[in-house]
Amino acid sequence: MKSIILFLLVAGVATGQPFPPPSPACDIPAIYNFGDSNSDTGGIAAAFYPPGPPSGETFFKRPVGRASDGRLIIDFIAEKLGLPYLSAYLDSIKANYTHGANFATGGATIKRVNESWFVNDVSPFSLDIQVEQFNQFKDRTIYLFNQAKDDSQRHNLPRPDDFMKAIYTIDIGQNDLAYVFRTIGVEAARAAIPDIIDQLASCIRQLYGKGARSFWIHNTGPIGCLPVTHAKIVNPARGYLDENGCVSGQNLIANEFNEKLRARVVQLRSDLPKAILTYVDMYSAKSQLISNAKNLGFEERFMICCGYHDRDHDIYCGNQGKINGSEVFAGSCKDPTKVISWDGVHYSDAANKWIANQITYGLFSDPPLSIIEICPENKGVSNLSRA
Ligand SMILES: *[C@@H]1O[C@H](CO)[C@@H](O)[C@H](O)[C@H]1NC(C)=O
Ligand SMILES: *[C@@H]1O[C@H](CO)[C@@H](O)[C@H](O)[C@H]1NC(C)=O
Ligand SMILES: *[C@@H]1O[C@H](CO)[C@@H](O)[C@H](O)[C@H]1NC(C)=O
Ligand SMILES: *[C@@H]1O[C@H](CO)[C@@H](O)[C@H](O)[C@H]1NC(C)=O
Repeated sequence: MKSIILFLLVAGVATGQPFPPPSPACDIPAIYNFGDSNSDTGGIAAAFYPPGPPSGETFFKRPVGRASDGRLIIDFIAEKLGLPYLSAYLDSIKANYTHGANFATGGATIKRVNESWFVNDVSPFSLDIQVEQFNQFKDRTIYLFNQAKDDSQRHNLPRPDDFMKAIYTIDIGQNDLAYVFRTIGVEAARAAIPDIIDQLASCIRQLYGKGARSFWIHNTGPIGCLPVTHAKIVNPARGYLDENGCVSGQNLIANEFNEKLRARVVQLRSDLPKAILTYVDMYSAKSQLISNAKNLGFEERFMICCGYHDRDHDIYCGNQGKINGSEVFAGSCKDPTKVISWDGVHYSDAANKWIANQITYGLFSDPPLSIIEICPENKGVSNLSRA
């Protein structure tokens, strides 16, 4: 991915760096990321069909395997840490893993489900598989690194010592909730949550067993606010929507998931004594953006920049479809930098930038540390038991 990375660096200079030059309080040399389309930087695109135009148009100026017009939150995290954007583990073309790897794939769930990419766009690379891929990645890159005769043979491999110093970022759960909603329904969804959280905790333990020490765990966003869902609502019953106009039942379940996740992270802090675990309240960050859309310079909160959705139609971003008998192409809006939702499900570059700014400074984390300060050496510096 060298050419892309060089290109990005140029683009980064041209558009101005969103963050001051990083001066990390500790050495965080790599990022290992796990998750779904919210942080997939090219995994599912490499494995199946890459998204076509207009994805990537705002920042990268071409499709780069991301479900957005530009950068994802994980890209802004990389910028904040002064590291290059992550190559997807599944990308065999010019990938560069010197500063980490991305195991996230669009459509991924925490628990394995009885669906596939061809049924409801579920990724075959569920979180447990992503952890397996990490294990293989770690073992094989360490072997190759040690076999190499000189640095020229190590040009895209991570340094073995960096696995322990790396930050392990996790953003997953939304697709598990969506799966539960469409199989057993929103009312019964609560009962499915404990198993999902158990599985997530088990994956974190496995990574810890492989030497991971610093975890940055995003909770799940307000799934009831997704504009694709909103576009289908006609004559909602009283109480069906919350004060933001989001589907309250779905958001209630997302909150329930997040409460259980938060409690489990607290538990994991005592179970995994050498780890520093940060719980990041992505739900609140995204909700603040949605409810303050206008004040923050965005268009109407449920506007979709790319794609056409109403009660009877779903023409996803970059696809062709028929509306009222005429063939239409779902292209993008005039100014994607003013819209929160890129495609009705995923956030725009501008929205991701706002969210990333909030969360990387520690405004939504427990403990409330900036991402550049979370490293095992700083364990105990702040109030880690804060629940
Ligand atoms: C998937 O299908 C198998 C076999 O029919 C069944 O045992 C299992 O419970 C199903 N899993 C889920 C999550 O529905
Ligand atoms: C991989 O990325 C690192 C850091 O950005 C860079 O120094 C190295 O030259 C790259 N390797 C290749 C093969 O492009
Ligand atoms: C399709 O036709 C209906 C009925 O004439 C109209 O109300 C609607 O706005 C049309 N939709 C689009 C996207 O043009
Ligand atoms: C840590 O946080 C808890 C709960 O907010 C509080 O009761 C306790 O006093 C704090 N401890 C320190 C050392 O700040």
